[in-house]
Amino acid sequence: MTTPSKSFIIRPEHPSDTGPIEALAAEAFGPGRFAKTAYRLREGAEAIEPLCLVAELDGELIGSIRLSAIMIGDSPALLLGPLVVRPAEKGRGYGIALMQTALDRARELGHRLVILVGDLPYYSRVGFGHVPFGRVKLPGPVDPRRLLYLELAEGAFDGVSGEARAASLAPLAEPGPREGGEQQEKPENSAHDRKRMNAV
Ligand SMILES: CC(C)(COP(=O)(O)OP(=O)(O)OC[C@H]1O[C@@H](n2cnc3c(N)ncnc32)[C@H](O)[C@@H]1OP(=O)(O)O)[C@@H](O)C(=O)NCCC(=O)NCCS
Repeated sequence: MTTPSKSFIIRPEHPSDTGPIEALAAEAFGPGRFAKTAYRLREGAEAIEPLCLVAELDGELIGSIRLSAIMIGDSPALLLGPLVVRPAEKGRGYGIALMQTALDRARELGHRLVILVGDLPYYSRVGFGHVPFGRVKLPGPVDPRRLLYLELAEGAFDGVSGEARAASLAPLAEPGPREGGEQQEKPENSAHDRKRMNAV
């Protein structure tokens, strides 16, 4: 996968990563993370295993990204987050690398639309834009300037509106065969574990 430097790798999350990821999230977000609207939306949602990735630097976990299945009105979508990079490693491109890898994979898997709550100046680097005011409702207060979307397929956001809520499974287009037959390591988390791990 992506290798900005020799000792940097991005790989699928494993069950044994749960503790280090929780520690990372606590360090980066603090206890306030549990009160966030995005957390509330993620709480009931199932994180999608192939879209839960971690970054390692010299064998140490320094970053994590997860995407979860949601519905917006009648339309399937993904919620991106949490994305977190260890504070000491910030500004070296690891956050963008994690995000770009996960988004490329999501596109390959047939997902079409992603939303998140975050800062436009950062997320616009990978193509996110503002959700027009009032078009998507979240289960709690959110600064409308921080509600962002990205189309993974052209026109995927056309006609999409309504309440965003957790979905246990995002309906997918049939994925085509992967070029070069790359094998992904398959994390063994149960849905229960996965929901628990969303609590970061
Ligand atoms: C946000 C975060 C994931 C970025 O990770 P990172 O590895 O430092 O990001 P990158 O190195 O890929 O990109 C760094 C660039 O983005 C910019 N950037 C980082 N966060 C930003 C923000 N919130 N708003 C605007 N720009 C931002 C940096 O200034 C830097 O700019 P430069 O390239 O011009 O120097 C990381 O800082 C983090 O974990 N923060 C705490 C948790 C968080 O806020 N997560 C996002 C919400 S889910």
